[in-house]
This record gives sequence, structure tokens and C-alpha cells, in this order.
Amino acid sequence: MSKVKIGTSILGTKDMEIINIINELILSGVDYIHYDVMDGIFVENKSFSVEHYKSLKNYFPNIMFDVHLMVADVKKWVEDFISAGATMISFHYEAFNKNELSSYIDDLHKYNIKVGIAINPDTSVTVLNELLNKLDFILVMSVVAGRGGQKFNDVALDKIEYLNDYRKAHNLNYLIQVDGGINDETIIPCKEKGVDLVVSGSFILKRKPYIEQIKLLK
Ligand code: DX5
Ligand code: ZN
Repeated sequence: MSKVKIGTSILGTKDMEIINIINELILSGVDYIHYDVMDGIFVENKSFSVEHYKSLKNYFPNIMFDVHLMVADVKKWVEDFISAGATMISFHYEAFNKNELSSYIDDLHKYNIKVGIAINPDTSVTVLNELLNKLDFILVMSVVAGRGGQKFNDVALDKIEYLNDYRKAHNLNYLIQVDGGINDETIIPCKEKGVDLVVSGSFILKRKPYIEQIKLLK
């Protein structure tokens, strides 16, 4: 057993079955639910909504949901999700005005939420250097944000290692999350490099019982 926490991306699930699926995931030992929001602008696809999130949170008040915003208008969506009760939110570095980032993170902390920044495979991790002392977590994308079921990109491994080394060297305590193409093989080097939070969508959901899939990851 490792201390890495496993979350499931519920992106591919149909509305009709989503409650049952989350119930089963919880019973199967998943640590949190990863809620992917796509606006059809920052990424081509669209998924979910604040209203949908609210209804799920009502249904599962004690379950940890982390909200991954793949959106262009970050401020609007973040505000809406904070109003809806979200406590852990990440948005994309590529979608935000660089000069404003640092003060924006400070503003968000006034709401007592965990703030993360996501970086796509093409974005260098070092762009975050100045922000690492104020972030709660960093979401290292191991696929280009936009859809589930893609192949894991190794570029994520160097970034996880860098973030883990940097954290030790500077005595910081942000968490490192990885998302995209995670299965029982690709998760191994992520753990070795020091990841804390893993997101897995299709690998967990493709086969029942989920408990067996989750065991393979743990
Ligand atoms: C990709 C999403 C991921 C994705 C994970 O844009 O952010 O959360 O759905 O799904 P798999 O594990 O299938 O890559
Ligand atoms: Zn995601």
C-alpha cells in the first residue's frame, strides 16, 4: 500500500448512471472524485456545469471533489465554483494572465480553498517557480487537457521529479498531482518520482469491479 491518493475522473460517465458510479467508487476505496470542467473554448469539448456540481455535492456531502477547470475565463468559473462550495480548485497556467497570477492566488486563499495550477505537457514546469511557495498543489498533465482516454506522456515524469526535488530543497509542502493516461503501469514511475495525488479515469471505469482496478493502482 502506498500513501498516494487515487482519484477518479468521472468525465466519461453518463448523467443517468453517475450517482451509482460514484457510490460504487466510494465503496471501492477511491480517495476523491476528480471533477473535470471543460468550456468548449480553452478546450474543444464541453463537460459538466456548476449546477451539476452542486447537485452532486448535495448528494455526496462528505466526499472530496477536486475541480479541474479547463476553461478560458478562469475568474468567472472559479467564482462560480467557490459559490457552489468547491474547496479544491485547479485552473490552467496557459489560460491566465501571467502578471496577475501571484496576486490572484493570494485573493483565492481568502476563501479558504486549496488552489492548484495545472500545466499542459508543452508548458515548462519552471514557469511556476515564483508561485510554488503559495500553491497548495500542482496538477501535472500527462496528456493535453481536453478529453479522457489518451496515452500517458513521459514528459510528466521529469516535472514530478523536479517538483519533488524543489519541494524538499525549499522546505515547501504543496502536493503534486498527475492526470491523464494513468494505468497500473504508468502509475509506477509517477510514484517513484514523488507524486501525491493521482487521477485515473478510463482505467478505473473501463472494467468492473472498480475495487480491483483501484487495487491495481494502489
Ligand atoms: C483530461 C482530463 C483528465 C482525464 C483523465 O483532459 O483532465 O482528468 O479525463 O482520464 P484518463 O485517465 O482516461 O486519461
Ligand atoms: Zn482532469
